Amino acid sequence: MRRASPPLLGIDLSSSSVKVVELVPGQKAGIRLQRYAIESIERGAIADGNVENPDQVAEALARALRRMGTRTREAALALPSSAVITKRIALPAGLDEEDYELQVESEASQYIPFAIEEVNLDFQILGPAAGGDDEVEVLLAASRKEKVEDRVAVAEMCGLRPVVMDIDAYAARSALDHAAAFLPNNGQGLVLAVFDIGSSATHLSIVLNGQTIFEREQAFGGMQLTQDLVRLYGLTVEEAEIKKKTGELPENFRTDVLQPFLEQGAIDVTRALQFFFTSTPYTRVDRIFLAGGSSVVPGLVEAIAERTQVQTEILSPFQGMEIAETIREKQLRVDAPALLTACGLAMRRFDA
Ligand SMILES: Nc1ncnc2c1ncn2[C@@H]1O[C@H](COP(=O)(O)OP(=O)(O)OP(=O)(O)O)[C@@H](O)[C@H]1O
Ligand SMILES: [Mg+2]
Repeated sequence: MRRASPPLLGIDLSSSSVKVVELVPGQKAGIRLQRYAIESIERGAIADGNVENPDQVAEALARALRRMGTRTREAALALPSSAVITKRIALPAGLDEEDYELQVESEASQYIPFAIEEVNLDFQILGPAAGGDDEVEVLLAASRKEKVEDRVAVAEMCGLRPVVMDIDAYAARSALDHAAAFLPNNGQGLVLAVFDIGSSATHLSIVLNGQTIFEREQAFGGMQLTQDLVRLYGLTVEEAEIKKKTGELPENFRTDVLQPFLEQGAIDVTRALQFFFTSTPYTRVDRIFLAGGSSVVPGLVEAIAERTQVQTEILSPFQGMEIAETIREKQLRVDAPALLTACGLAMRRFDA
């Protein structure tokens, strides 16, 4: 982290918004959150992780960049995990780069259900393989070219140079690992369950000692709450999104809308944990972290803590970082949990 690290923007193109984070080296070493922006995108412009309407996504990204007022042009983006096939394979140790490329390509063709010409292939040598010293473990990642190109195109429309294409879950994991370092004993030995509660889905990852030991996707998300507001109070989706954040809602909102939503969230989280217990040898979770834009819905932390009887808190990826004076602390507290992936991407700047 001491080395000069070239500027980089972390850009998360998700179903509800475009999120951009810029991290810079801190004044007292470490990392400083310099600026960020969240700009909502038209509904359907990104669906199921696919860029359906590049113009609309680029428009939102351009707005975010303008609001941030950044001059940085290099960008780290992510593909949704669902668009990437990953596989760990063992290959002979000590080959040169080109030979690894050839080996990876021939191995990959066994796992990939489409023609190799249509695929972007990448790999990373993870370290010695379990089998012995003469082999290394290699992580292979493959995605359809068009998925990569769609995202590159959006960035380029905004005058950016994409230099990193990550996987969203991996980026979120980097951000979590950074935050976990602030737990007692660096979080070692703790079973950590992270629920990323977004707009249309909740993604659960359970991590122990730096390893993801369980993952699951559920349908619970903030869109349900938005749609309830639309249905009950005759609002447009845009109006509902605003009122959800300002809390300017009729009196029966708490009892008739919010309460059932919290109840549903707590039940879904409990079910997911039960599924974890029954399908793995593990019997406990030590800490629940909530991330994603919907984690800040008032009462959700409490509802989940009460039903699961597990210590629950909101995860801020910027924990322990310096924060630029221009950023309003109160606003950041609301926005931070949604920036997990964007923050993880921006942290790629500091990779050794
Ligand atoms: N202050 C807030 N109060 C309540 N809900 C909020 C707040 N800020 C954002 N949300 C909700 O969070 C959701 C967006 O969260 P996030 O940005 O994590 O989702 P996403 O990554 O775009 O969606 P998905 O992961 O489902 O593709 C929306 O439903 C939005 O209404
Ligand atoms: Mg999300």
